[in-house]
Amino acid sequence: MRTALIQGSGGLGSALAQVVIEARVFDQVILAGRGQWSMDAPHTQIRTVPVDLTSDQSVAEAAGRVRSWCERLHLVITTAGVLTDPSRGIAPEKKLTELTREAFQSVMEVNCLGPFLWLKALYPLIKHREPVTIATLSARVGSIGDNRLGGWHSYRASKAAQNMLTRNLALELGRLNPNAVVVGLHPGTVDTGLSKPYQKGVSPEHLFTPAQSAAYLWSVIQALTPADSGQVFDWKRVRIEP
Ligand SMILES: NC(=O)c1ccc[n+]([C@@H]2O[C@H](COP(=O)([O-])OP(=O)(O)OC[C@H]3O[C@@H](n4cnc5c(N)ncnc54)[C@H](OP(=O)(O)O)[C@@H]3O)[C@@H](O)[C@H]2O)c1
Repeated sequence: MRTALIQGSGGLGSALAQVVIEARVFDQVILAGRGQWSMDAPHTQIRTVPVDLTSDQSVAEAAGRVRSWCERLHLVITTAGVLTDPSRGIAPEKKLTELTREAFQSVMEVNCLGPFLWLKALYPLIKHREPVTIATLSARVGSIGDNRLGGWHSYRASKAAQNMLTRNLALELGRLNPNAVVVGLHPGTVDTGLSKPYQKGVSPEHLFTPAQSAAYLWSVIQALTPADSGQVFDWKRVRIEP
């Protein structure tokens, strides 16, 4: 049985879930997140499980549920990400003087540590020898070499750290399974809650709908090979430098 697991019920998480379900290449699609899912597909078994990636207990419980539904995962996508959250004092910093311990730690938790502790909890299901693809949604601004504007300290740092853990997991898993692919993906600028406050300067042709971006990312995922493992690609399948 081939199983896909998609984490995150936000703009891109929901759109990716839709695309993966409609592709009909998995017998079972598991949707994990804090929000609600409204997916229906008579041809595919769809299961949902609540998970908050910032809670060890929630991650352990959710991973336990996933383990009860399948012996192996063949596609794992994580979409957790936060850029702005006024309720927790999170806003993209323009200057170093705006950096705070609380906001930095919260952004790191959701964007980097959470997804990889989630993958750790799922490890027994991904360390097999069949083809498996693990994709975490990253961002171009996580590239150190591409950073010419500065700012957004916490978000940039969290995505750069996420990219490092992506490379590490690719190396570690690749030793066990030559058919494993672990990548970061940049979805473009997408019209979701995360980007809403920052869309002013973006021309309409460069602002994707979640469905558009998900379709591009699905094409990228389908074309990946083990030689791509450890790298970050954008929605056009162009490699983003570390
Ligand atoms: N939109 C863009 O232009 C853009 C550009 C570059 C990169 N990205 C990246 O794409 C990813 C998806 O973002 P989006 O645009 O779809 O934004 P969004 O609609 O705001 O979704 C945010 C996602 O983060 C998840 N999340 C937040 N806190 C979480 C927590 N504590 N535990 C588990 N999940 C949590 C949410 O899932 P639940 O609520 O279900 O938990 C949701 O799926 C992010 O990693 C983002 O950095 C987006």
